[in-house]
Amino acid sequence: MLDVLKALADPCRLRLVAVLLRGEFTVQELTAILGMGQSRISRHLKILTEAGVLSVKRQGTWSYYRAGGDSPFFAAIRSAVEQGTEALPERGRDLAAVAAVLEERRRKSQEFFDLHARQWDDIARTLLPVSEYRERLLALVPEGATVVEIGLGTGGLLPALAARAKRVIGIDHSPAMLEEARRRLAAAGLGGIELRLGEMTHLPLPDNVAECAVLNMVLHHAADPQAVLAEIRRVLAPGGSLLLVDLARHEREWVREQLADQWLGFEEDELTAWLSAAGFPYVRCERIEGMKGHEAVLVVRAAD
Ligand SMILES: C[S@@+](CC[C@H](N)C(=O)[O-])C[C@H]1O[C@@H](n2cnc3c(N)ncnc32)[C@H](O)[C@@H]1O
Repeated sequence: MLDVLKALADPCRLRLVAVLLRGEFTVQELTAILGMGQSRISRHLKILTEAGVLSVKRQGTWSYYRAGGDSPFFAAIRSAVEQGTEALPERGRDLAAVAAVLEERRRKSQEFFDLHARQWDDIARTLLPVSEYRERLLALVPEGATVVEIGLGTGGLLPALAARAKRVIGIDHSPAMLEEARRRLAAAGLGGIELRLGEMTHLPLPDNVAECAVLNMVLHHAADPQAVLAEIRRVLAPGGSLLLVDLARHEREWVREQLADQWLGFEEDELTAWLSAAGFPYVRCERIEGMKGHEAVLVVRAAD
């Protein structure tokens, strides 16, 4: 407890913790965000990591820091620290700098999907137990509902969603992915599905429009997952549900560079806390173990 309190008792380290509560960043990114020298940042990061406030994952020459290390005491006071850091004098400036770094990553992710739209389905089948989790996901889609699929990719789920739903709206920020989805729908002779170009943090939808939102293998691309979940809550009608499928936390760092992933999957507890903060207090999560070299996947149903 003393180590955690000592580590936090410094204005610069508090700023660092506040920033890392918003996402995972490298030393280089943190240097740019806080506008401080690398050796100073590294020294503070070392103190916070040794106290169990932060954890670090190495990826080749890069190290990504995140809030939450091995200290149970920090886990217990985490939300109070998060609230307290809102009053830091540099808060507005630091958040603007975080937003600039996240925007740069989002731009790279969009570039990746625009470039690889044609190969995406093959990439997914190699890495993920697609047929197992799709089946679980589709079984949770309510019949006769208005369903919004966010980050629809090449639209592989759309025909099955359309078979259950009253209305289906698909959204993606990659024009190339949307083009692939349009091609798929045309080939299947499926009309009546609305496809829209849009950002998951600013969905091109009015409030309360859908009874069900589907987010399938998309959240690990989010620069700010909490903002995405809150935006989804906005477009869901009261009583609506979010069906979220994503990677369980893993250690394969190469996905950041090669697949434009921003998160190495998620812990069940982490997702539950974010969902609850976004207005989804009811969360049920099933873990599907990956076979044949596939990743483990979490299938989550969240509701209010
Ligand atoms: C890993 S693919 C998954 C596609 C599809 N859901 C599937 O499982 O095959 C992620 C998709 O999310 C989209 N995406 C990533 N970031 C996004 C954002 N910020 N806003 C909207 N779509 C996004 C990508 O363009 C891509 O089509």
